[in-house]
Amino acid sequence: MTNTKDSDLKYNEALKKKIEKLKIKRNAVIIAHNYQRDEIQEIADISGDSLALSQAAVRTDADVIIFCGVQFMAESASILNPDKLVLLPVMEAGCPLADMITPEKLRAKKIEYPGAAIVCYVNSSAEVKAESDIACTSSNAVQVVRALKEKDIIFVPDKNLGRYVQSQVPDKNIILWDGFCPTHIRVQEEDIVKTKDAHPEAEVIAHPECNPAVLALADHICSTGGMFKYVKESRSKEFIISTESGMLYKLQKENPGKKFYLPTSHLVCANMKLITLGWVAHSLENMVYEIKVSDEVREKAKRALDRMLAVTGEKQGAALAGY
Ligand code: 13P
Repeated sequence: MTNTKDSDLKYNEALKKKIEKLKIKRNAVIIAHNYQRDEIQEIADISGDSLALSQAAVRTDADVIIFCGVQFMAESASILNPDKLVLLPVMEAGCPLADMITPEKLRAKKIEYPGAAIVCYVNSSAEVKAESDIACTSSNAVQVVRALKEKDIIFVPDKNLGRYVQSQVPDKNIILWDGFCPTHIRVQEEDIVKTKDAHPEAEVIAHPECNPAVLALADHICSTGGMFKYVKESRSKEFIISTESGMLYKLQKENPGKKFYLPTSHLVCANMKLITLGWVAHSLENMVYEIKVSDEVREKAKRALDRMLAVTGEKQGAALAGY
């Protein structure tokens, strides 16, 4: 008799084969965020941080993009690729941070601060992007804000990332929005202290969505993509990773001789984990769930994303092969 673990493995292997066949049939590319389940990252053609995924979406020559991430990420891919079919395997995979701002509330804020530039973190809806001057991700937020001529910047919706940007660009006046990531704020200062006590040689790497007390204890602050680069280049052998648990899959795979610790077991984004192999197969088989933005909103939101990609040096709309 096979045990549950064996039968789970067999089930997953069968699903992976099915996904591979369907991917060829549909001329699809699977892109996955670094917070996805291990087995999803394993089958992905491209995995990365929000910026890398937006860039990949611009470059792909596949007809269908299976986006393993959350709604705002798939929406960005669709905005940048109006001629491609962008599918999110689980429609309910949302982002509570993105839901902490509405276009109406942002319009009201703009009236309060006439002349301020609006910078929106990509963790926002297409409608909020459409109201913004430029988008940013956690890997380019500082670069984006520095590139603006305006001194006053309304930064939405993540207050922790906004505060971090303010610390790096003191000559700007950053007006914060009261939004936060419910996963990152679960890390408390004490969690870092406790983990560091247990592993005194470990470097602390934190995502800028963590609260300021946690960031103050970090040796390095960066996006999920930046963490891979930092760990690879660091001489340290141990790291405390203050971001969502999905990061450990690729960190461990790419750095077999190094050790990684989470400061708390609560660093799990339930929305990211909604996507399973079964749902990816379902998505490819039934061509669901399509993410589409109205032309009016799309054109305005695309301007904000294109401006961001221009700041990072990405060719806009370039359909390069290789993905
Ligand atoms: P990254 O851009 O660092 O991957 O962050 C995405 C995100 O949603 C963090 O919560």
